[in-house]
Amino acid sequence: MTKTIISALDVGTTKISAVIAEVNNDQELKILGVGVGPSSGLSKGVITNIASAIEAIAYAVERAEKTAGISMDSAYVGIAGPHISSLNSQGIIAIADESNPINESDITRAIDSARIVHVPHNREIIHVVPRFYTLDGQDQVIDPVGMYATRLDVDAHVITASSSSINNLIQCIEGAGVQVESLVLDQLASTEAVIEHEELEHGVALCDIGGGTTDISVYLDGNICHTGSIEVGGSLMTKDLVSALKAPHYSAESIKREHGHAIPSMIEHGELIELDTFGMDRKKAIERKYVAEILQYRCEELFEMILAEINRSVNAKMLSAGIVLTGGASKLEGLEILGEQVLGMPVRVGIPKNLAGLSDILHHPAYSTSVGLLRWAIIEKSLSVNKYRGNFSNNFVKKIASVMKIWQPQ
Ligand SMILES: Nc1ncnc2c1ncn2[C@@H]1O[C@H](COP(=O)(O)OP(=O)(O)OP(=O)(O)O)[C@@H](O)[C@H]1O
Ligand SMILES: [Mg+2]
Repeated sequence: MTKTIISALDVGTTKISAVIAEVNNDQELKILGVGVGPSSGLSKGVITNIASAIEAIAYAVERAEKTAGISMDSAYVGIAGPHISSLNSQGIIAIADESNPINESDITRAIDSARIVHVPHNREIIHVVPRFYTLDGQDQVIDPVGMYATRLDVDAHVITASSSSINNLIQCIEGAGVQVESLVLDQLASTEAVIEHEELEHGVALCDIGGGTTDISVYLDGNICHTGSIEVGGSLMTKDLVSALKAPHYSAESIKREHGHAIPSMIEHGELIELDTFGMDRKKAIERKYVAEILQYRCEELFEMILAEINRSVNAKMLSAGIVLTGGASKLEGLEILGEQVLGMPVRVGIPKNLAGLSDILHHPAYSTSVGLLRWAIIEKSLSVNKYRGNFSNNFVKKIASVMKIWQPQ
């Protein structure tokens, strides 16, 4: 049985995770090594200090390599942040010989023509995701290969990133001794790890609530409609607690993770928690309900912002499968219940699954991007050697990966 080694690097605002895995002929993913370290030199998804970022990435990579017993030479890398922007574009081509069915090279030409959008000189296209095709200006189809037409239109979602952010990210990763095999937008990777096929079909929004940002992608009828990013994440929730409780960051962070809740009314009156604080006393007992009130305020505001971001592309009411939350901050107790109350739509937390090997740590929403990057690598590599067996749950990503132009180092 042939086994292929693949690796993923998620350079997040709060943590950096490096994962080395093995894939067999049946496309099963076995985790060989995971390395996680605190992030440094990054703010809201953007590198701010190259030297510290290289050191932090190298630390995570080294830990993964030690556990796996092999080196991480190259990796699929996540990219995110407010410098990302997206637009929907149309590509049109003529089919020279209408007696021949449409083939893969026609699809590639159509997508190439959708890439011809005005992109400022300081930005680069990282993904062109086909949404649907139109034959002779009439019939909308998902996969036109084998069909007949004289004109093929493609409606595509084009995602661009700032060239300097891309270059800085690559420089840091290469500085840590790893080649960038492919850059994948964080929320597209997370989608592959936690969203189910049926949710994509009926309409869903993926919201990856990390430390610095909440990265969103919206799907309707199995097609991507929108990607966006909000500069609010778990770090702001912790900051709110620092300021309200007058407590050091480490203390506020552990209170949030261990006792935090998004719904104060679900906490009993008089439930006290002890925490380290600034000032003379150093230790203080506070009502857990009060902590929940502070968190609720920030989370309600975040849900309102998520709703506004979704509504920029489609009416959120059209998303029958609602919202899937993921990312470390989605672990806050009660968050999905608050989400349903505020948004009036279904909300669940997505956690990566179906992993073998040393995968315990990855069964947490903070690792959706890492696991999703590995799944992208499997799909792309299978397709490139024509081995794809079609046994992935998520045809959507297969569709993107089969025709999209992934950014690749020049
Ligand atoms: N149990 C928990 N309850 C509440 N928040 C949590 C919990 N566990 C982790 N978090 C929060 O999750 C956030 C980190 O999430 P994640 O690891 O997904 O971020 P990241 O990928 O480093 O950041 P980004 O995606 O914004 O670049 C932190 O703010 C952390 O406090
Ligand atoms: Mg993240």
